[in-house]
Amino acid sequence: MTMKPFLPFLTVTLLFLSACGLEKPPASLQFPDAKGDAAPSAATTAPAAAAEVPSDPKLAAGKVVYDANCAACHDAGMMGAPKPGDAAAWAPRIAQGAEVMTKNSIAGFTGKLGMMPAKGGNASLTDEEVTNAVAFMADKSKGAAAATPAAAPAVADGKAAYDASCAACHESGMMGAPKPGDKAAWAPRIAQGNALLLSHATDGFKGKVGMMPAKGGNAALTSAEISSIVTYMVDKSK
Ligand code: HEC
Ligand code: HEC
Repeated sequence: MTMKPFLPFLTVTLLFLSACGLEKPPASLQFPDAKGDAAPSAATTAPAAAAEVPSDPKLAAGKVVYDANCAACHDAGMMGAPKPGDAAAWAPRIAQGAEVMTKNSIAGFTGKLGMMPAKGGNASLTDEEVTNAVAFMADKSKGAAAATPAAAPAVADGKAAYDASCAACHESGMMGAPKPGDKAAWAPRIAQGNALLLSHATDGFKGKVGMMPAKGGNAALTSAEISSIVTYMVDKSK
């Protein structure tokens, strides 16, 4: 009913998408009002390469839900979201049991690394869909037990480590993260002194604008690495 004002935009969007060769807009571009149409398309447009689709039907269904609703954070490790396949990050979670993980995913929770929104932010998912997605993620993450998380690159310069662990938030200013180079945002922080900056980066803190997770969510970083990253960020912002 409130579609009218959106029609021009929708038309433009569809034209643009068909120009790109896409039949249907990706789920993220669909309007809530268009849900009737969206549901079947979400179920049939899994971008996955066929080879990667798990043979277990529940896991396969979970992958479709995951790709559409969870990958945005979890594939990128955004905001501390554990990546499927990162055995070290998942081991303690899997150890809690599937029920706890599933309950946490349905209700949402705030853990040590960040905030997992209820149903990944898509309230229209059924509990069963979320359960399947969790099963898919856990299944992908326990098989990789041998593959220890890629040896943290021996960081000579802070920039590489920054790019890997901090840029996801800090480069875009996501959730209030101060951008390196934004002198106004950094001046009062730098004025606190390096020791406090380091402790905030290492242990995490909740400031006036948002939540900085401990080590940016990458517990594998050493204090030397954190120190070289903070130096990089501060140098860029003076
Ligand atoms: C906005 C980003 C975001 C989205 C979207 C998201 N997650 Fe998460 N998720 C997180 C974060 C952050 C954590 C880790 C929180 C922590 O432990 O501090 C997490 C943790 C989890 C865990 C581990 C739970 C535990 O008990 O340790 C599971 C399972 C999970 N997510 C499933 C899902 C599923 C399923 C979806 C899609 C329906 C989803 N997530 C979408 C951010 C997200
Ligand atoms: C999930 C998003 C996120 C990630 C990832 C992240 N940060 Fe932050 N960071 C923030 C936010 C938000 C703030 C600002 C909090 C405030 O002041 O309210 C912040 C603030 C900081 C500050 C300023 C501290 C102060 O005392 O003012 C430093 C230094 C910092 N981050 C370092 C890092 C480093 C180093 C990494 C990577 C190892 C990292 N951050 C990764 C969100 C993030």
